[in-house]
Amino acid sequence: MTVQLMVNGQALTLDVDPSTPLLYVLRNDALLNSAKYGCGAGQCGACAVLLDGQAVLSCTLPVGSIKGQVKTLESFQSDRTLHALNKAFIAEQAVQCGYCISGIMIRAKTLLDRNQRPSAQQIKETLQGHLCRCGTHTRIIKAIQRAAQELSA
Ligand code: FES
Ligand code: FES
Repeated sequence: MTVQLMVNGQALTLDVDPSTPLLYVLRNDALLNSAKYGCGAGQCGACAVLLDGQAVLSCTLPVGSIKGQVKTLESFQSDRTLHALNKAFIAEQAVQCGYCISGIMIRAKTLLDRNQRPSAQQIKETLQGHLCRCGTHTRIIKAIQRAAQELSA
């Protein structure tokens, strides 16, 4: 069956079962690999992408149910906040294996879009649903605060 999807400003027409999770379609059909398969059950945050500006877990979202605009980390060059986060994560060396980072940057963008001076506690609360098995949490918090500083300068 054909499904229409707007991803990173591009209209895609895909021949997929509408019940297929968005994550599979992004990775296998649209060849956008930033969102990762971690748990596949809405428990780890690795698959987070933006849907009309809100973070959603793409592993549990049927592609046929999507009406809005999907945005993935691949679009970071055209998004001021994602671009600032990208630079800050590199500057703070906040990435170890990197598996969790796309989802974390997507979630961090939703925080910075409403709060350009988040405290460490606010960042922790925002990232509660995101697991990082490498344990780079301290650097992740610093990176998000560095991005916030750049955005509010
Ligand atoms: Fe989607 Fe874990 S892969 S929440
Ligand atoms: Fe490896 Fe977070 S950097 S899981």
